[in-house]
Amino acid sequence: MLSSISRASAMSTSRNTLNAAAATRLSSIQRHLSTTPSAREGKIERLTVFGAGLMGAGIAQVGAQSGLKVVLSDVTDKALENGLNIIQKSLARVAKKKSPDDIEGFTSKILKNIETTTDAGKAVEQSDLVIEAIIESIKVKRDLFGFLDSKAKSDCIFATNTSSLSVTEIAESCSKERQEKFAGLHFFNPVPAMKLVEIIRTSQTSTSTYEALKEVTLRMNKSPVTCNDTPGFIVNRLLVPYLLESIRMVERGDATPEDIDTAMELGAGYPMGPFKLLDFVGLDTTSYISQGWRDKAEAGQISKELVQPIELLDKLVKEGKLGRKSGEGFYKVSHMIE
Ligand code: CAA
Ligand code: NAD
Repeated sequence: MLSSISRASAMSTSRNTLNAAAATRLSSIQRHLSTTPSAREGKIERLTVFGAGLMGAGIAQVGAQSGLKVVLSDVTDKALENGLNIIQKSLARVAKKKSPDDIEGFTSKILKNIETTTDAGKAVEQSDLVIEAIIESIKVKRDLFGFLDSKAKSDCIFATNTSSLSVTEIAESCSKERQEKFAGLHFFNPVPAMKLVEIIRTSQTSTSTYEALKEVTLRMNKSPVTCNDTPGFIVNRLLVPYLLESIRMVERGDATPEDIDTAMELGAGYPMGPFKLLDFVGLDTTSYISQGWRDKAEAGQISKELVQPIELLDKLVKEGKLGRKSGEGFYKVSHMIE
C-alpha cells in the first residue's frame, strides 16, 4: 500500500501528467486550428444572441468581452432592458478586479460592442454566428431557427444553448445546407464565471463548423468539451437527476432544503447545495428539462425513474416561484446569491 506521502506524490505526479496531457491537447488543438483550412471564409467576428435572460445576457457579455460585435435580440424591449441590466451588474463585478481605477471606462468599452433589437430578421443580417438562448421549448426554438434560416448569410453558423433538447431535432427546422452549420453550444450559469462549454455535434455538423465553434469558444476564454447529441449531454445527464432527487427527498420529508444544501456544501464540497442551484438555474427551466426528458424516457433513451413528475416542482412553477429570476423559489430573495 502507498504511504500518504508517496500516495500524495503519486497523485501529484498523475495530476501533473494529466495537466501536461491537457496542455498538449490544448496546444495541439490550437496548432490544428491555426493550420487547418476552414470552409468559412473568415473568422467569426459578429455574434447574434437570441434571448436576453440569464444565459443570453451572459453569452452576449463574454462575446463582447472577447472583442466580438454582438447583437442581442429578444421579443420585448423590457426583456432587452433586463438583459442589459444583468450585463451591467456582471461587468461592474469584472471591472472591480480587472480595472479597479476605471470601472466606468472598462464597462462602457465592452458595452459599445453590444447592440440590441427586437427585430429577429435584422438581428442576423450580418451575423457570422447565432447563439440561441430562449425558452427551453422545442417548438419555439424550431420556429425561431426556421424563420432565421432564410434571413441569415449562407455561411452563418447556428448554435443552440439548449440544456437538454435534441440538437438534431432543432436543426431539422432548417435547410439541409444549414444543418451542416448547426451545433449545440452549451454554456453554464453564471456564464461569465463558469469556464466550460459543451460543443454538441450532430451527425450533420460539418468539421469546419465544429472547428470554428471550438476556436470562438477558446477566444471567449472558455474550455470546450465535445459530446454527442444525447439527452443532457455530459453535465446535465449527471446533474439533473441529482437535482430532481433532492426535491423528492424534501417531498418525502427526509430533510429540509436548508439541511440538504448544507450537507452537499460541507459534506461533498459542492459550491452550492441543490436547492440554491435550483433557484439559480430557474425552476421553470428545470421543469422544462424534465418534461422534455419524459419523451426521451418513453422512447427508451433514458431511464423513466429519473424523470418521474414531481408535484412540489410543478406546484412552485405554477405559483410563479421560479427561483432567483422571480425573487422566490425554494428560498426567498433575501437568502439568494446575487
Ligand atoms: N459575473 C461575473 N463574474 C462572476 C459572476 C457574474 N455573474 N458570478 C461569479 N463571478 C465570479 C466572481 O467575480 C469570482 O471571480 P474570481 O474568482 O476571479 O474572483 C468567481 O466568479 C467566484 O465568485 P464569488 O467569489 O463571488 O462567489 P462564489 O465563490 O460563491 O462563486 C459561483 C459563485 C461561481 C456562482 C459558485 O457558487 C458556483 O460555482 N456555483 C455553482 C454553479 C453551477 O453549478 N452552475 C452550473 C449550473 S447548471 C447549468 O448551467 C446547465 C444547465 O443547462 C441548467
Ligand atoms: P430565461 O427565462 O432567463 O430567458 C429566456 C429569454 O428568452 C427571455 O428573456 C424571453 O423573453 C426570451 N425569449 C423567449 N422566446 C423568444 C423568442 N422567440 N425570441 C427571442 N427571445 C425569446 O432563460 P435562461 O435560463 O436564460 O435559459 C435560456 C436557454 O438556456 C434555455 O434553453 C435553457 O434550457 C438554457 N440553459 C439554461 C441554464 C440556466 O442555468 N438557467 C443553463 C444552461 C442552459
